[in-house]
This record gives sequence, structure tokens and C-alpha cells, in this order.
Amino acid sequence: MRYLIANWKSHKNYQTTQAWIDDFFLQISNYPRLKKNLNDNKIKIIVCPPLPFISLFSTKFTKIPNCHVGAQDLSIYGEGNYTGEVSAEALSELVEYTIVGHSERRNYFKESDEMISKKIDRASKMNIKAIQCVRNEKDKIQKQAHMVAYEPIEAIGTGKNASVDDVLNMKKKLDLISDHIFLYGGSVDKSNCEYYLDKDEIDGFLVGGASLDPKSFLDIASLC
Ligand code: PGA
Repeated sequence: MRYLIANWKSHKNYQTTQAWIDDFFLQISNYPRLKKNLNDNKIKIIVCPPLPFISLFSTKFTKIPNCHVGAQDLSIYGEGNYTGEVSAEALSELVEYTIVGHSERRNYFKESDEMISKKIDRASKMNIKAIQCVRNEKDKIQKQAHMVAYEPIEAIGTGKNASVDDVLNMKKKLDLISDHIFLYGGSVDKSNCEYYLDKDEIDGFLVGGASLDPKSFLDIASLC
């Protein structure tokens, strides 16, 4: 099984999200191999939009086999008086997956290993599968994480994707367990994804920029 995760970050609004979904739904008929792979459980696609748009995915998108919607983050707190926070309890009614610990959250919101570990705990207690992002071997990996995405900072949004060798070397250094699904993220697009896909050790991708356009995202999916 290959995994393709879209991280939309804070991009798109209600209308452009709806347009993406409509477009994805229309254009997927141009990708018969991808449709077959989705039906045959060979690929799983998880799109993580901004929270307010999650429910838009339930009408068409998540009706396609192996197409899911996920969150980009969750609160370190459970249900309670935490203004502005979205708890794992609330999310569990909407999603099966969430990204946790993206380097942008560490950078802009000062998330620490400890906070990330609490979030993954909360997610797993509510049966939400965590996609943990790590920058390098120094970031502590949680055993309960379902997927681990290696995302070197210098590769994110720069067009400078890490080499396949770098990704494989880092995989060896990370404290992974055999259950962890291993992803690479950082400037993945249709022109470079095949190099990684040649390697069985890499289970898939976390894609930012190239996921914002349905066609470029479908192009990557069709190669997975
Ligand atoms: P990018 O982002 O594909 O735009 O480099 C990846 C990520 O930050 O998850």
C-alpha cells in the first residue's frame, strides 16, 4: 500500500475547496490506473484541509474508495474550557487521521516534543491515526504514531527536495518501529516522486504545494 497525504496548510477558502473537490472528482476519470489502485487497496489518499472545510469532503470525496479527509493538528487538551482549541474528541467525529508536529507548528507555535507527544496520545486514545512529522533524528518519534513523515526543513516549499539517498539514510537513523509507515515530504511533485517510489522503504509522501491543484496532485497519485 502507498500513502499520499495532502497538507493544505492555511490555503483555500470555502469556494476554492469545493472547486478542488469537484475538479478532483471529475478528473479522476482520466486516471483509470489510479482508480483501479484505489479500488484494489494499493493506495490511500488523505487530504488535510483547514479545519472549517473538513465536512465538505464527506459528500463526494470520501465516497471514493481509500480517499479520506484528515486534520492538520489537534489540541493538547481534551474537552473543556480551552477557547479556540479543537480536541481529539471533537475531531474523532470527523476524521480518522491527523498530522501532528509539523515543523511549521514547531517554528511558529513553539510546539515541543512534549506537546507533540501529548497530542499523539490524545489522538490515539480517540482512535485518530497520527501522521507525525520529524525534521531529523533528533525529533522524538512516538510509538503510537501511525505514520512518520521525514520532512527536512530545507526541502519544505523550496523546490529543493531531498535526494533519495538522504531519505534512506535518515530512515536508518530514525527510531522507527516496524509498524510505522514511513513517508517523505518536502517539495514532492510529479517530476521527482518516481525516484522515491523506486524504493520499497519509502511508503509514500506528505505533499504541500503540489496538492493544492487537483491535477498536479492526481498526477502524483497516479504514479504511486
Ligand atoms: P511542500 O510541503 O510539499 O510544499 O514542500 C510539504 C509539507 O510541508 O508538508
